[in-house]
Amino acid sequence: MKGIILAGGLGTRMYPCTKVTNKHLLPVFNKPMIYYPLLTMVKASLKDIMIVTGGNYAGDFLRIIGNGKEFGLKDISYTYQEGEGGIADALKLAENFAENDKIFVMLGDNIIEDNIKEDIKSFEAQPSGAKIFLKEVDDPERFGVAEIENGRVINIEEKPKKPKSNLAVIGLYLYDNTVFDIIKTLKPSGRGELEITDVNNAYIKKGNMTYAIIKGWWTDAGTFESLLKASNLVAKKEGFEF
Ligand code: G1P
Repeated sequence: MKGIILAGGLGTRMYPCTKVTNKHLLPVFNKPMIYYPLLTMVKASLKDIMIVTGGNYAGDFLRIIGNGKEFGLKDISYTYQEGEGGIADALKLAENFAENDKIFVMLGDNIIEDNIKEDIKSFEAQPSGAKIFLKEVDDPERFGVAEIENGRVINIEEKPKKPKSNLAVIGLYLYDNTVFDIIKTLKPSGRGELEITDVNNAYIKKGNMTYAIIKGWWTDAGTFESLLKASNLVAKKEGFEF
């Protein structure tokens, strides 16, 4: 299994901070944001990891992460997304890196408490298809939202005004290698991006999607509010009280 961390974008929701660095390098408590998805992958025993970045500060990733030695990796791969094509467009760039392996994709601004090693193992055993992770939230309209029927995901809506459930699709995805063929069939959404939700709905249509509810806490850190929440959750986990 190959790991791919998506850390591009201009981070406009976090201006002015992201005028001088990439969003994924902003601090979440005592570490740069990108450390958390990287550590999630390393703890899940992944050894081949690629970071897809973009924007004006891609070089800063090399200065912070280098060749991945600090994380116990032999090396780490990087690629560069030109423009603002969305999450699925960024993933497309990892096709050669993935070879014919399954992939674990994580959005660079998502942070989870738990180790998902066992889920990754069970996906290795799943013959084909995809697996997503869900979490109950109070503000589903901010996320991709899953509709479940008879124990199966039947549809995902991206940032719906009237969510059909309170189950957010979090930014961790397990895919077989057909994901790259699916991406080639996608059309840009209303916001002009190739959406990861459209990738997931393609697997759902083929009847080839499983899911797990993530244990422990999860948060994104892509807005100032969620960045503060993420810092507080990490601080608490590390034993700090304020
Ligand atoms: C993206 C996805 C969304 C998902 C979220 C998780 O949203 O499009 O489906 O629920 O990440 O963080 P974005 O961060 O681009 O608003």
